[in-house]
Amino acid sequence: TAGMAEGDDPRDFVDKMARGNKRAAVFYGTQTGTAEEYSIRLAKEAKSRFGVSSLVCDPEEYDFNKLDQVPSDSAVIFVVATYGEGDPTDNAQPLWDFIMEDGVEFSSGGTTLENLNYVIFGLGNKTYEHFNEVARRIDARLSELGAHRIGERGEGDDDKALEEDYLGWKDDMWEAFAKRLELEEGGSGDIADFAVTEVSDVAPEKIYHGELSPRALHASASGNSTPVGSYDSKNPYPSPVLVTRELFDGPERNCVHIEFNTTGSGITYQHGDHCGVWPSNPDLEVERMLSVLGLLEKRDIAVSIESLDPALAKVPFPVPATYEAVFRHYLDVSAKASRQTLAFLARYAPNDQAREALTRWGSDKAAFHDEVDGPCLKLAEVLQIAAGDNVKGTAPFTSTVWPIPFDRIISTLPRLQPRYYSISSSSKLYPQAIHVTAVVLKYQSSTSQAHDNTPRWVYGVSTNFILNVKTASDSLSGKQNHLSVNGHQHTGGLVGGEVPITLPDFPQYKLSGPRDHHLRNNIYRVPVHVRRSAFRLPTSPKVPIIMIGPGTGVAPFRGFVQERIALARRAKEKNGPDAIKDWAPMHLFYGCRREDEDFLYRDEWPEYLKELDGKFIMHNAFSRGPDRKPDGSKIYVQDLIWDSREELTPLILEKRAYIYICGDAKNMAKSVEERLVQMLAAGKNGTPEVEGAKELKLLKERNRLMTDVWS
Ligand code: 2AM
Repeated sequence: TAGMAEGDDPRDFVDKMARGNKRAAVFYGTQTGTAEEYSIRLAKEAKSRFGVSSLVCDPEEYDFNKLDQVPSDSAVIFVVATYGEGDPTDNAQPLWDFIMEDGVEFSSGGTTLENLNYVIFGLGNKTYEHFNEVARRIDARLSELGAHRIGERGEGDDDKALEEDYLGWKDDMWEAFAKRLELEEGGSGDIADFAVTEVSDVAPEKIYHGELSPRALHASASGNSTPVGSYDSKNPYPSPVLVTRELFDGPERNCVHIEFNTTGSGITYQHGDHCGVWPSNPDLEVERMLSVLGLLEKRDIAVSIESLDPALAKVPFPVPATYEAVFRHYLDVSAKASRQTLAFLARYAPNDQAREALTRWGSDKAAFHDEVDGPCLKLAEVLQIAAGDNVKGTAPFTSTVWPIPFDRIISTLPRLQPRYYSISSSSKLYPQAIHVTAVVLKYQSSTSQAHDNTPRWVYGVSTNFILNVKTASDSLSGKQNHLSVNGHQHTGGLVGGEVPITLPDFPQYKLSGPRDHHLRNNIYRVPVHVRRSAFRLPTSPKVPIIMIGPGTGVAPFRGFVQERIALARRAKEKNGPDAIKDWAPMHLFYGCRREDEDFLYRDEWPEYLKELDGKFIMHNAFSRGPDRKPDGSKIYVQDLIWDSREELTPLILEKRAYIYICGDAKNMAKSVEERLVQMLAAGKNGTPEVEGAKELKLLKERNRLMTDVWS
């Protein structure tokens, strides 16, 4: 820009590298933060192995027109995720657009990248068609422009073993990195990222007890329970819980319907959007971690944390915070232990036995898989077992303390992240409430723990948190509960001091924190935010709709149907009872085990069917009910779709119907697509491989087949 002195451009990363004496820049294309985490790990490893400092950057904040001027003794590292139909993440879009452009020209006037050394690691998911396409295409493009890749291109598969893919890739890459940049391996691999100090002179209202942002802290200290402003993933809204309801019958499984009251928050949403829910960790795991680190007695002491190198490591949560809050609300103590973490922590082992155990798991993939990953052991559990403490899964307390510096724990444990749920309401019917439908995750681990031979129960953090919010809310209002067997209890984070609560059924439930933001005026609050999605109905109700959502996959479709109901009411008000006569049909394919057990919202559908005058048609597959296929096998949604092919195919091929699939990505969505391909092929008088596949691809490209799936 005219008048700007050399070195003034904040979007010039090459200049920033030179001035900061950094020989690497790491760019992350991230949506949920995973690529960013791996970027930071690579930067740290460059530092600890070779003493090379890096710039870790969000590509959105930089220009790439000086990519040709990165010195040849330096490197640029790309860690990029692939999304949707082979798309870059939002923050990598400008980078993508720039380098992919035909006839790209750099600010020097050059059109090639002969000086550039680069490393590339992609994050993708094999369940989807375009596996790691973004990394592959960036790689191909950089090579085409004359740049030199260091080592192989890494490709992580989020569906399987992202971590193993990364570990398997990085060592050879570092070897090549050292060679290309002429570096010597040095460092111990152990450098502090943070300086931690226990503080005693901070005003109590400035200490974080689980609030997620300064604004939330301020609101809770001032007694103002609804801070207004714009809420997003960095600043969730502590939303009062309006309603909770159990949707399943029977003692075995739980599915919670929960409504968040957004009145006065300024939060808006659309049908099909996602709700991010910020969970807290359960007592058991919080106390186990505190115990292993010898911090039980200090749980209420606040620590302040500073980054020693803000470019490499940001303090991951607001401070000063109490030790308890760190493990309750900010760090993911419930995550499965990783192999790299165990290898690293071996140096802090309290005895030889513990050191040998961690070293073995850290280096022997098979042992790690059988004894740690298979049984889904969490870090604190592994540390207890390694040190010879007999862990039965329920007793958090340990006799052997691990002398791990707290800053290493902060660097090592992932941050507790929000979990996303498809919103199950329509904002037209419920402008002030967000409904979430969460099936409570509880399953048995694939292998058992070596020393006691029983498979272990694994509990989903967020869904069990939601279940506990329900249990606690019910007990406030005097309601009875059915709680799943082996229910995992959460306490601390949910309770506040002003209100005396007695929960005789739950001995682990206890009061903590005099001013916890999670409970105020007898109402529980859960931090939430809305994430926009493209999963939407077409505006015109004359377009046919085909929705496929077994299990909780039905959640967004409840919102879709409600949306149409709101429209229908308006239309009828304006134009009389026949107003929706010429509307197109809306088909919902739903599946669950049994009609009388896990049929979600079974009381509501008849009302919806009635109100939409036959324009809404529901097809139910009860897989474990009396109906079976002729060969005795289960009936699933894809079978009902196939049975309705005569009706559906013309809707798709002639009436331009929109198709939506929500739910399990791996099996269900695949089988449904296979059926669609067969139907389309028949409709086009062709084969599934050619005409069927082509039609499906077209539908996707035109956004007439949309998916909201998870694995
Ligand atoms: P199942 O558990 O009896 O096998 C919601 O989870 C519903 O989806 C259940 O009825 C479940 O049946 C069914 N389901 C399981 N696997 C599926 C698949 N591959 N395709 C479609 N539905 C499936």
